[in-house]
Amino acid sequence: MRMRISPSFGSAMASFFKMCRLHTIGRGSVVKCLQKVDTFLHRNIGTNVVAVQEKNGFKSLYAVQAERQEQAERSVLISCHSMTNEKRFLEYLANYGDIQKYFFYGIYAVVEFANKESIASLFEGTAIPGIGMETMMPFKSRLLSMRNLDSVDLRNQPKKRLAQQSIPINELIQRLSKEESIDQQITSLTEAHQLTEESCRLRFLVCSLLKDIVAPFFPECTIKPFGSSVNGFGKLGCDLDMFLDLDGISGKNATMPKSGLFLEYQMKAAKSERIVTQNILSGIGTCMDLFGPGCVGLHKILDARCPLVRFTHQPSGFQCDLTANNRVAMKSTELLYLYGELDPRVRHLVFTVRCWAQAQGITKSIPGAWISNFSLTVMVLFFLQRRNPPIIPTLEHLRDLAGPEDKSVIEDNDCTFVSDFSKIQLESNTETLEQLLCEFFEFYASFSFQTLSINIRKGREQNKPVGDPLHIQNPFETTLNVSKNVNTTQLGRFVALCQESSWLIQQNKTAPSRGGTEGKATITLWGVSNLLLPSQIEEVKRKQNSSKKQKFEPTNQWIKDMLKSMKATNNQQNQS
Ligand code: GTP
Ligand code: MG
Repeated sequence: MRMRISPSFGSAMASFFKMCRLHTIGRGSVVKCLQKVDTFLHRNIGTNVVAVQEKNGFKSLYAVQAERQEQAERSVLISCHSMTNEKRFLEYLANYGDIQKYFFYGIYAVVEFANKESIASLFEGTAIPGIGMETMMPFKSRLLSMRNLDSVDLRNQPKKRLAQQSIPINELIQRLSKEESIDQQITSLTEAHQLTEESCRLRFLVCSLLKDIVAPFFPECTIKPFGSSVNGFGKLGCDLDMFLDLDGISGKNATMPKSGLFLEYQMKAAKSERIVTQNILSGIGTCMDLFGPGCVGLHKILDARCPLVRFTHQPSGFQCDLTANNRVAMKSTELLYLYGELDPRVRHLVFTVRCWAQAQGITKSIPGAWISNFSLTVMVLFFLQRRNPPIIPTLEHLRDLAGPEDKSVIEDNDCTFVSDFSKIQLESNTETLEQLLCEFFEFYASFSFQTLSINIRKGREQNKPVGDPLHIQNPFETTLNVSKNVNTTQLGRFVALCQESSWLIQQNKTAPSRGGTEGKATITLWGVSNLLLPSQIEEVKRKQNSSKKQKFEPTNQWIKDMLKSMKATNNQQNQS
């Protein structure tokens, strides 16, 4: 196949790339640059992954995933660190087929061909690396390197690969302070953090590359992203949760003939489904470790409630968790996606609360006794169900709206809920984001965690089973608590921070008038930006100590005690 890019396209592209090169240092600039690539190619895509909508309504997550998986299978990931001339790079690749879309990501390029056949012809033209000091594992994948045997001027090379990470918190705080209202601050925060179109494509491509490693053993398998990569609440730099779907070959739904001859596969038997899952993940983990280009730091965590293989995919920089037999998590992902699509305030509030929680150390990227992002998201959903009128419906209501095609029972758990968005009638709640954020803090500042459980299935508090400090009913495995790991100290911190943030935001609700000397505007932190300062808690304590009138009475004795001990520590520090 010959080159399909017109000469004018090529030269315009070359000058355009020069411009892009100049901007590869800052993340924001890269995103802008990538958006320009997109505009240049006349592909009409937004930067907002979850806003993938059809004309007559919303697309289900299932449809979005199918489309993205198909795109990923036509794509390659190419390291182009020895290339200085992007025009030549594109011309070379266009020899193998029409390029549908491409974008640069640090020193890597994601190139999507119009047809899957182009990948096969590209492989024919791809060489095995020459053997130097090391011997190569002869595994061919769609992770390639573009070599340039001509003399290369490396002066203009980007110095390091960029991770798709969130805007640094200090920059975000400054940006938010310049907004005019709390509603604008919340919208701006979401825009700064949400996954870009490019990050989403890369996530599906990584799944597709890994599927190529698994496919020789399980040709009918798929590897699908789940969790925040696809539920609409993903933040740039979030981990990549992957689900190895072997259901097509499980034999669970197979119908056996009643009489006559038939053949069946001989397969190894194991004592339980859990052992099968562990063995599959263990075997695949070994293959990824030994053969998977770019897969590093692999750990098999097979004794966990949900066994997984954890590793870093170096070219994308994603921290990956591969699970199998985890269909309930897929259903939770679908449910969260649906809630996020129902009303834009859902995503805005979740992003803001997640960001606030991260800045205040309520959530952490490592496992521990703290509240997880998933639990926090469920808490936001519950709060939105408790508004008057409710902003989102209960899971029971979504189940009642389901049709026969939606029926889903996984390991005896009823995971049925409606997939047709048009059946869902929302009530007319007109609360602003500012009101909702303030009310969120007040709601959980005075929530009776000691006696009540959070339940999005029913959309109202339930009596709590004895035991765990924080009880959030798992939406589908209803006997389980999604926040079982959370201890009293961490819950106490969350409550105290809700109390303080509620107070703080009430004091700083209005944007300060823009002032400045000699044309230099001064930035005053206010509204949401104030909530993101990690040191703010201690500062609030100081203010509360000196204030005679305290607005919030601690609801429980243990919160009272905790605040007292924190104040005492503060005083001690001030005295020393
Ligand atoms: P971040 O990775 O922190 O951005 O959020 P996440 O939503 O992806 O959370 P995480 O990676 O911890 O988990 C991935 C997905 O697994 C979640 O979105 C849920 O769908 C599911 N999940 C996580 N924890 C639980 C749990 O305790 N119970 C259930 N049922 N599902 C869970
Ligand atoms: Mg995740």
